[in-house]
Amino acid sequence: MPNRIISSILDLTREEINDIFMYAAAGTGLFHRFRTKAQGSILGSLFFQPSTRTALSFKSAFIRLGGSCIGFSDIEESRAGISANESVADTAQIVSKYCDCIILRTTDPSIFEEFAEYSTVPIISAGHGQVEHPTQALLDLFTIHQVLGRVDALNVLVIAQLPKRTMHSFVLGTTLWRDVIVHLITPPGHAPEEGITKALAGPPRRLHTWESFNEFADHIDLETIDVINIEETRADFEPLAHFTRQEPFVLTADVLRRFRRDVFITHPLPRFCSLPRFIDETPNAQYFQVAANGPFVRAALFLRLLFHESIDIEGQQH
Ligand code: CP
Repeated sequence: MPNRIISSILDLTREEINDIFMYAAAGTGLFHRFRTKAQGSILGSLFFQPSTRTALSFKSAFIRLGGSCIGFSDIEESRAGISANESVADTAQIVSKYCDCIILRTTDPSIFEEFAEYSTVPIISAGHGQVEHPTQALLDLFTIHQVLGRVDALNVLVIAQLPKRTMHSFVLGTTLWRDVIVHLITPPGHAPEEGITKALAGPPRRLHTWESFNEFADHIDLETIDVINIEETRADFEPLAHFTRQEPFVLTADVLRRFRRDVFITHPLPRFCSLPRFIDETPNAQYFQVAANGPFVRAALFLRLLFHESIDIEGQQH
């Protein structure tokens, strides 16, 4: 992976993703088989914005592969913070000398881009601004593939406050499969960016946008929806999607009953108001499974891109 930059889900080929899914499907078996693969390697973990799932599952994956991690969980721990305001270019060049791969989360997407320009080792976005969060999409798509047995030809409902990096990566990621239709409900004024609409423009048209849940439900048979992905940003933000102009979208029991019994529900977490806790007890709730798959999928990503591993479907190394 000579200075490979993964800033978008589309920086991975479908072939690479197929391999990553195949390795990740081995679950803990992956860590038994490759427990020394990263021995002697160091992961640079730079989180200039808080994280629970992404930071810890990336580090867990690398450590379980036998590697070590260094890094910061706050820019102020480094000289790039206000104490010295060291440039992004210098920071990237220095950090690259101390590790074999960098995972980076930033609030400002231009910091990721500049860091990637000056890094001399591979760099993976752990979420940059509201642009993309490619590995979160990998987790969602992997778990959908595991649970539903396919991604091709799925009907997906995304309910989102925009811009939202996890939504961008997820929706772009679906374009790597055949015939996936995305229905996107966003509050008025939350239109998707041009890059998203272009990528899904078709033909055939893959993206259908709606301004309220009611509008969507009046036109589309809810029984045809395979996946619901809720992408809320903050509880105090504008209502996510409206039943009426006054009410925020909440996945209540009454709403859930209108979908098919096995509809797959995902959410990048943390949750705010749209996903009540009772959903956790239903077989539809997949968001904790998505998070649990984090170390497997991220380990598989390291194996495929950093260590160039290749295993067949039975897990035989070749
Ligand atoms: N899904 C996600 O990115 O969670 P964290 O912010 O906790 O990493």
